[in-house]
Amino acid sequence: MNPASVVFVCLGNICRSPTAEGVFRALVETRGLADSIHIDSAGTSNWHIGERPDPRAIEAASMRGIDLTNLRGRQATTSDFLEFDYVIAMDHENYANLSRLATPDQRAKLHLFLEFADDVSEVEVPDPYFGGAGGFPHVLDLIENASQGLLDHILAGRGST
Ligand code: 4NP
Repeated sequence: MNPASVVFVCLGNICRSPTAEGVFRALVETRGLADSIHIDSAGTSNWHIGERPDPRAIEAASMRGIDLTNLRGRQATTSDFLEFDYVIAMDHENYANLSRLATPDQRAKLHLFLEFADDVSEVEVPDPYFGGAGGFPHVLDLIENASQGLLDHILAGRGST
């Protein structure tokens, strides 16, 4: 397939988007596509630059066989819309903030992650940082679901050769 690139973006880059990066990377590796799809994550804020993911995110992901310990926080910039084909926002607030970093032409790269989820009533991946909304396991369920849909979408658009 032609190469593709994806960046997942949340507010802090320590809970949802590193989880999405780890889950999506594991899925892509399982399908033997690691050399074809470049994956990263970022936060719209500058609050956790250089930090590891939240210990609760690391723990919840490890329960599903996913290691997030090597990831470090960074802030999304206008360069992300040059570098990546897909800029994937976790919630509407992230989407609005990312939209301000993009040119009108680049905005077609921007998506809400749960657009790609199957059979899910929610439209946002809820922020688990302050607790509530089912917490990290629920975030993982949504991310696993939407990751399948996103990969199918990328493969459908790019062909398999
Ligand atoms: P995330 O969660 O956007 O999923 O990484 C948050 C992490 C940190 C904060 C808020 C949300 N914070 O307020 O520091």
